Amino acid sequence: MTTTSHDRGRYAVFGNPIAHSKSPRIHAMFAASVGQHIDYVARLCPLGEFAVDLERFRDEGGVGANVTVPFKLDAFALAGDASLRARQAGAANFLMWRGDHWYCDNTDGAGLVRDIETNQGVALRGKRVLLLGAGGAVRGVIGPLLLREPAALVVVNRTHATAVELVGHYATQYPVAALTADELIADGRRFDVVINATSASLGGTLPVPEATSVFAPDSLAYDMMYGKAPTVFMQWAGQRGAGRTSDGLGMLVEQAAESYVQWRGVLPLAAPVIAQLRAELLAS
Ligand code: ATR
Repeated sequence: MTTTSHDRGRYAVFGNPIAHSKSPRIHAMFAASVGQHIDYVARLCPLGEFAVDLERFRDEGGVGANVTVPFKLDAFALAGDASLRARQAGAANFLMWRGDHWYCDNTDGAGLVRDIETNQGVALRGKRVLLLGAGGAVRGVIGPLLLREPAALVVVNRTHATAVELVGHYATQYPVAALTADELIADGRRFDVVINATSASLGGTLPVPEATSVFAPDSLAYDMMYGKAPTVFMQWAGQRGAGRTSDGLGMLVEQAAESYVQWRGVLPLAAPVIAQLRAELLAS
């Protein structure tokens, strides 16, 4: 049987910059693992031209896309239909052509939850979770995290007002609160899962360096960033009593798997792809 271009499907990840993106490689590995063929490329989209470029992609036969910085808000705004979690985030990293319009989703939260629960083996139900940050990354994951029914979810952000505003959307329905760093420290509470969703690691700094007693003995400290070496947050958390640390490589692969299953109807196994990318990172 021959494979037509339709069977293969045209996909892309839109971003600027985009050369660093691991998405084409991840999706190629997924396709190979489930015996499918897809055409998935990295697409450098000029700033301010997302709408035009997405239309061009559609004209070229594009049926699905991932979207990364700085176009996630544009993707959400342009889509004719959106999932609940994309609406909660106000941003989309996933687009799928539905015959006459683009449908958008945000798969980051599902990626994070699956990495924590399946790959790290930490069930979130009943756990105390601390979320550091209140920017786009947190907006993408807070809804899916709350659906896992943690006992409490506390959000701490450098700019407290942003955390208060964000938490306000969920506080009537879920056990979620915004604390200042001072309140967090005075409170003395310990957490089972501490997630760094700030961009502090990019600059090699810590989000709340004063909060040295937030880790329960077997807690998981999770940084959404990843790199060749453990991030400063992971190192700090390990020294402050976190039982386990993880970077965000698994989340990257799992959010891609959550895209793949929607486009292609098969959920590929993420673990072998995570292992392969980790090996490549360490060898780089
Ligand atoms: P993203 O989409 O990656 O979340 P963002 O919307 O710019 O990016 O948000 C970055 C987050 O990291 C914010 O919560 C930011 O805190 P502010 O709301 O106070 O800006 C947080 N952040 C960035 N650098 C930080 C640092 N050095 N220390 C603590 N928090 C930091």
